[in-house]
Amino acid sequence: MNTQSIGLLKSEIETPALCLDADALERNIARMAAFLADKPARLRPHAKTHKCPAIAWKQLEAGAIGITCAKLGEAEVMAQAGIKDILIANQIVGPTKIARLVALARETRVITAVEDAAHAAELSEAAAAQGVRLRTIIEVDVGMGRCGVLPGEPALALAQQLARLPGLQFEGLMGYEGHAVMVVDPAERRRVAMASMALLVETAELLRAHGLPVSIVSAGGTGTCEISGRYPGVTELQCGSYATMDAKYRSVGIDYELALTLVATVISVRGSDHAVIDAGVKALSSDFGMPDVISPGGWRVARLSEEHGILARQADGEPLRRGDRVELLPSHGCTTINLHDAYTVTRGDRVTASWPIAARGATR
Ligand SMILES: Cc1ncc(COP(=O)(O)O)c(C=O)c1O
Repeated sequence: MNTQSIGLLKSEIETPALCLDADALERNIARMAAFLADKPARLRPHAKTHKCPAIAWKQLEAGAIGITCAKLGEAEVMAQAGIKDILIANQIVGPTKIARLVALARETRVITAVEDAAHAAELSEAAAAQGVRLRTIIEVDVGMGRCGVLPGEPALALAQQLARLPGLQFEGLMGYEGHAVMVVDPAERRRVAMASMALLVETAELLRAHGLPVSIVSAGGTGTCEISGRYPGVTELQCGSYATMDAKYRSVGIDYELALTLVATVISVRGSDHAVIDAGVKALSSDFGMPDVISPGGWRVARLSEEHGILARQADGEPLRRGDRVELLPSHGCTTINLHDAYTVTRGDRVTASWPIAARGATR
C-alpha cells in the first residue's frame, strides 16, 4: 500500500494518481441505499467496478445484502477480506476453476451462474464429492446476447434438471440487461429494460408454476437501476458503477457524483494548443473512448499512447505550463481502476488514505 501521500494536498501528490473522493463515494452509496429502502429489491453491488474490499464493506454497511463479482479470482479476494455473501455472475468453467469454486463455497456463501445442463452436472459432481451444496442461479439471456439460456421453456427445462442434481442448491435467476444500460434516450432505455425484466420475471413465474422455488431474481446496472429496481418481481440489483461513476455513464445522463478521477501532470508543451500529460493507456482505459478533462477547462484529450496523454486546447482554454496539474474523468471506471494498485483517497483537498485495489487483475 502506498501511504506516502497521506496528509498531502491533492495538488502535491505524485502522478498519475487514481483519486477517489471518499465523501462523494459515500454519498453515492447512501443514495442508492435510500432509493432501494422502500423497494422490494435489495442491493448486491457489482465489485468488478471498484475491486476494493474497503468499498465493498462500505456498501455492506449501508445495507447491501452481499456483493457481485465477475470472476472467481475477484470473489476469492473479497472472501479473503471477510465478505460472506458473493454472487459470481458468470460461468465458471473447467475442472481447475470448478475445484477452486467448490473450495470457496466451503469457506463462504457463494452463488454461481449456470446456463447449461452438462455444465451444471459437472459442478454438481465436484461439489457433491466435497460434501458441498453449491448455490446456483440460472443465467438468462434477456436480450444482451452474451451468456445465458433463453427465457421461458429453455430456462424451465434447465431448472428442472438442475433441481435434481445433488450437489447444487437452486436459488433462482439472473438476467443482466446490459444492452439497455447505456441507451442514450431515457424512454428507449426504459422500453428496452422493461422488456428484459418482463422476460426475466415471466420466466421466474413459469418456474414457480412448475413447483420450482425461485428466491433470487437478479438484474440491473447503473443505467437501469431505477427501472429494474422498481420492476415487481426483481429481488436483487447488481449495479456497480454508481459508486464511483465515469464519463460514459455521465454522457448518458446518469447523475451519480463523479467520485473517481485521475490526476496527471503536464510534462511537455508546444505552443499554446498542445500539451502532454504523464498518463496514457497504462493509467487510463480507452475502451469507452477518451477520458474527459475536468480541470482546467478548455482542454480535451486528443489521444493516448502508452505513457503519454496528448491534450488539445479548445477555444476557451488557458495555455498550460510544464508541471501543471490536470484532472481527468475516466471514460470507463471499471477498466481504468483495473490498471491501478490503490486509490489515493481524498476528503476535501487532502489525501486521507490509500485503499488497495486488491482484486485488480484478478481475471482468472
Ligand atoms: C453481469 C453484470 N451485472 C451488472 C453489471 C452492472 O454494472 P454497472 O452498474 O457498472 O453498469 C454488469 C456490468 O458490466 C455486468 O456484467
